[in-house]
Amino acid sequence: MAINSVGSILSIFILFATLLPTQGFSPSPLSHNRRSSPRLPLRLNEGGRAGVADSGLVDANRYNVDLEKAAGIVTASVQAEKSATRAPGVPFLDSKDKDYFIDDESFLVERQGGLGLELLELAGGRDDGFGITIIENVVEGSNAEKAGILAGDSIASVGVPSPSFVFGSGEIPADVRDCECRDFDTTIGVLSSIPADASSIVVNVKRVRRWPKIQLRVEYPKSQCAEGVSNVKDIELFAGENLQRAMLNRGIILDDPGQGKCDFCGKNSCVVSVYGGRKLLNPMGLTEEKLMERNPRCRLSCKTTVGYNMQEGDINVRVNLSQWKEDKDSSS
Ligand code: FES
Repeated sequence: MAINSVGSILSIFILFATLLPTQGFSPSPLSHNRRSSPRLPLRLNEGGRAGVADSGLVDANRYNVDLEKAAGIVTASVQAEKSATRAPGVPFLDSKDKDYFIDDESFLVERQGGLGLELLELAGGRDDGFGITIIENVVEGSNAEKAGILAGDSIASVGVPSPSFVFGSGEIPADVRDCECRDFDTTIGVLSSIPADASSIVVNVKRVRRWPKIQLRVEYPKSQCAEGVSNVKDIELFAGENLQRAMLNRGIILDDPGQGKCDFCGKNSCVVSVYGGRKLLNPMGLTEEKLMERNPRCRLSCKTTVGYNMQEGDINVRVNLSQWKEDKDSSS
């Protein structure tokens, strides 16, 4: 539930969005070795495509947006129920636009000479300190810039590493101070509370990214289309969607009376034939691989994810496969 969409008291945040001044922040200078971002790039099943490194890794930063865009997209949401990762009723940074999402990034930032961040309060003015504060500028050559922090990021929490802490190992600092969805003063308060002898800090940020998209061309057998109606339908999917669910949600009719019913689900139209963009699909699991042994072009749509590992591009599929045979028969 988006707070500002239901008229909750937090909606007053948005009223302050452009009225509050930009303020700079430089914590006390101390020295320490800087480490790079621990974010693990996404692994692909195949490499060599645009925006994909030879090592087969996707750089998620290709989906970043600029400060202005990020400021227009972020909002504070709460959820009513407890989930595995969130407590109920606690605001968290969210996207107002379904074409964008909020990603997590962590950086180890040296403190000697200051962080080099300028913060902008987008929303605030509440007694409890909740609000929205984002980074408006990262000073050139600063510790924050060297670590990889970008304008438009919002600081979610700050960790104080212990002497034995190894950044990038998956370890979480024992002392983590939360400032997600807080106003300017509260965010500064958290940053200023870091002990002076901590020579570096782990800065966890929320980063707005565009969802990668898949352009899916679906071809029906002509025998299933009324006269004069195109047998081709182009639809847009988000990377990470399940192929079958995504097609059904967008009105694709999966019905193939010529195919036997699936032993698992009772449907008759799960199998699709992939004519382009196969590299953008998840690899087959063992069961699917076995089932598709004699049909290397085919996939079980219910077991297929498009835009695997956040890739984007074009995919072509044919559906209702046994009806294509009828097309062939009737034209011969
Ligand atoms: S829907 Fe039954 S195997 Fe895919």
